[in-house]
Amino acid sequence: MISNEKIQEMMSALGELKAAKEQEIEELRVKWLGKKGEITQLFEEFRGVSPEQKKEFGQKLNALKNAAQAKIEEMKAALNDIADAGKASFDLTKPGDRMDLGARHPISITREEIISIFKKFGYSVAEGPEIEDDWHVFGALNFPPEHPARDMQDTFFVHPQGDNPILLRTHTSSVQVRTMESSNLPIRVICPGRVFRNEAISARAHCIFHQVEGLYIDKNVSFADLKQAILLFAREMFGPDTQIRMRPSYFPFTEPSAEVDVSCNICHGKGCNICKGTGWLEILGCGMVDPNVLRASGIDPEIYSGFAFGMGIERIAMLKWQVKDLRHYFENDIRFLKEFETVI
Ligand code: DAH
Repeated sequence: MISNEKIQEMMSALGELKAAKEQEIEELRVKWLGKKGEITQLFEEFRGVSPEQKKEFGQKLNALKNAAQAKIEEMKAALNDIADAGKASFDLTKPGDRMDLGARHPISITREEIISIFKKFGYSVAEGPEIEDDWHVFGALNFPPEHPARDMQDTFFVHPQGDNPILLRTHTSSVQVRTMESSNLPIRVICPGRVFRNEAISARAHCIFHQVEGLYIDKNVSFADLKQAILLFAREMFGPDTQIRMRPSYFPFTEPSAEVDVSCNICHGKGCNICKGTGWLEILGCGMVDPNVLRASGIDPEIYSGFAFGMGIERIAMLKWQVKDLRHYFENDIRFLKEFETVI
């Protein structure tokens, strides 16, 4: 019999309805709103309701009928949404979304390449601290006490007082000292790392950059061995036709010392704006380890000799990819970094 409770109960039952298929929705529609449906039934009974109750029941019945119709429509719409979503995810011909992969930083790529070349020659990797003392950065490397590199102008000091000030290393040559102090002979290492110098930032200079130091110590190591090692490296790095030339130079920790140029990999020696018309590009400094340096680390220069070299990773990377402004490497502009996405 029609009653407030009955209508209320049916209203709550409506809220609970669920259907997974079109057919089930149709069955529910017939059950509720069909010719013999429950709501239709109530409308039949409504005829017998007393006139004073007609208004109240009339409104409630209409609300129930509207709610039932809305519920049926809602279930149909939900089913359509699922069908559409299903179609989209199962369209096997649709191309996948491109994944935006990150790229390695060009300095990392270059460092790894330098390391892998020297590993092939039998070198292992050694590392040391970025915060160093004066002894490992200067003293043991035969820098005279008044050498300008020790000056505040070039070096960032962490703790400038005392006879062995603490500072940020200005070159990775400090790692050769640590290696000589702690390793058995012979030694064949490369030392990649970050270095710090108090320089104004420009297209050609930065206060933080990266170097790779190399050190080879054994009996009977000669300048010819140094030259051969550098030539093999240059050819692996810049291509098999690369030539090198050595110019006499000076470093406190090597004697004799040289700077090494490679033939310009852009114009192949003809002269262009990258090599400033000379056909040559400077890549590193090197030399035979000074006997004073060997002695400072407890190695007898009468028995052992060795060579060392040091190069800037940014510089090698600039030459390799013709990057004209050093600052690109530090600004992390995604448009620059993305250019290296395809370099494996
Ligand atoms: N330490 C030098 C620099 O920072 C680079 C260098 C030159 C390293 C000659 C060496 C070398 O080992 O033999 O500029």
